[in-house]
Amino acid sequence: MKIGILGAGNVGTTLGRGLAGAGHEIIYASRQPQSEKAQTLREQGAQVALAAEVVQRADVLILATPWSAAQAVIESAGDFGGKPLLDATNPIGPGFTLTHGHNDSGAEQVQRWAPSAKVAKVFNTTGVENMANPAYPAEHRAAMFVCADDEGACQAGLKLAADLGFEAVNAGDLTKARLLEPTALLWINLAIIQKQGRNMAFGLLRRS
Ligand SMILES: NC(=O)c1ccc[n+]([C@@H]2O[C@H](COP(=O)([O-])OP(=O)(O)OC[C@H]3O[C@@H](n4cnc5c(N)ncnc54)[C@H](OP(=O)(O)O)[C@@H]3O)[C@@H](O)[C@H]2O)c1
Repeated sequence: MKIGILGAGNVGTTLGRGLAGAGHEIIYASRQPQSEKAQTLREQGAQVALAAEVVQRADVLILATPWSAAQAVIESAGDFGGKPLLDATNPIGPGFTLTHGHNDSGAEQVQRWAPSAKVAKVFNTTGVENMANPAYPAEHRAAMFVCADDEGACQAGLKLAADLGFEAVNAGDLTKARLLEPTALLWINLAIIQKQGRNMAFGLLRRS
């Protein structure tokens, strides 16, 4: 697939490297497509362009900007033409608090900002270390939860998460982002605030 990544930061480039390794073509959207950073990404085999061009050329988009920049980046991207938009952001405000919750979510806000896209929430509930390597001892894999209203967007999120090596889990419709975004804050609380380290991930245990 041709994957457009809006936001070539920690998350964007980690997902980009992993998905390129799984055989996907990567196009990053950058505010400065001629910058030194953009040049380095090109040398690594990716393409870099402005957001509107990336949205036109990609099959699937990933949103990986700071929450504070998400609306502006979406608006600069223009018409998504019904393509899946996989929202990896977390709507974090001052003091590690969520700006949306209980009866709304960042993903639902992203869908309102981008009515021409099919939004799925994915890649928000764990850190970049697990995006680079979701494998744990005893053959455990980090879980990656996906939720979307649109079946195609959901399947795109599940496939890309599985391509990266996650156990991809369908969490339901887009309102389930109201559960996935606080789950991201739980990970941040354990890994960063309580200093338990970033090499931890949520997984699912099952028995029949
Ligand atoms: N870090 C994690 O482990 C992690 C895990 C899960 C989810 N998340 C979420 O993923 C999102 C991205 O996190 P990140 O750690 O990748 O952030 P980051 O390293 O700061 O990267 C964000 C990128 O967004 C682009 N951008 C566009 N408009 C911007 C603006 N006005 N201000 C700043 N950057 C802008 C920048 O690329 P250009 O300069 O090239 O445009 C920048 O490199 C956040 O919403 C975060 O909550 C992070």
